[in-house]
Amino acid sequence: MAFFPTPETRWHPQTDTGALKASAVRFILACARRSIQTRGVFHIVLSGGNTPRPVYESLRESRADWRAWRVWFGDERCLPSADPERNSRMALDALFAHVPLPQRYFYAISAERGALNGAFAYAKLLQDVPEFDLVLLGLGEDGHTASLFPGGDTGGAFNAQAALPIFNAPKPPPERVTLSAARLSLTRQALFLVSGESKRAAVARWRAGENIPAARIAPRSGVDIMFDAALVRHPAGGGPAASAS
Ligand code: 6PG
Repeated sequence: MAFFPTPETRWHPQTDTGALKASAVRFILACARRSIQTRGVFHIVLSGGNTPRPVYESLRESRADWRAWRVWFGDERCLPSADPERNSRMALDALFAHVPLPQRYFYAISAERGALNGAFAYAKLLQDVPEFDLVLLGLGEDGHTASLFPGGDTGGAFNAQAALPIFNAPKPPPERVTLSAARLSLTRQALFLVSGESKRAAVARWRAGENIPAARIAPRSGVDIMFDAALVRHPAGGGPAASAS
């Protein structure tokens, strides 16, 4: 029996993608400052996909204390490590090849070794980090997040493995490595970035209380979701934007 606690879910409507990008950058840097002031280090889990890329690119200009950052990944595609479709490649190209983060603190998932070996190796690495400071996540059209897809084992039980092999992802490539819902929930803060008309249905299902994979990320402090306000207006463009409830 998997246990999916219902987290506090804070919805932050954004007027457009520029506002979403600026809000996300402020949120990430504030979290980094707090973590580094308190614990001397900032453990962040990056999301893959396209939505976060402009946020990562904007972070290049920030005066972050990069040497205190520890960069992890929520999931990775089983492709060669230099493949442009890799989430680690996107993060390097967009941000980390341009700032002084020591390479030893960039923890890519070794998904090029295959889903099983990659998941096993990453789960071992994660043993050294009891709790992340910030987990960034996206939302798929079907309600997936990271590489936790509907109908699959999202690893929500407390005793779930930290990292799971995925062999049949509906979003290509089919073979991936993902952190489990339970491991992604071991974080002080979690921020979802949701943008694009294609996410309308998934947002509506989530807000209606459906147990989509994204809803299974349940940190003690709840989750924050920054999303296009238009996604909760009627497609005809009528109706009020969501309140930031
Ligand atoms: C991946 C991501 C995935 C992504 C969502 C949203 O490897 O593809 O981890 O979970 O965040 O599919 O993707 P977009 O931001 O491109 O819409």
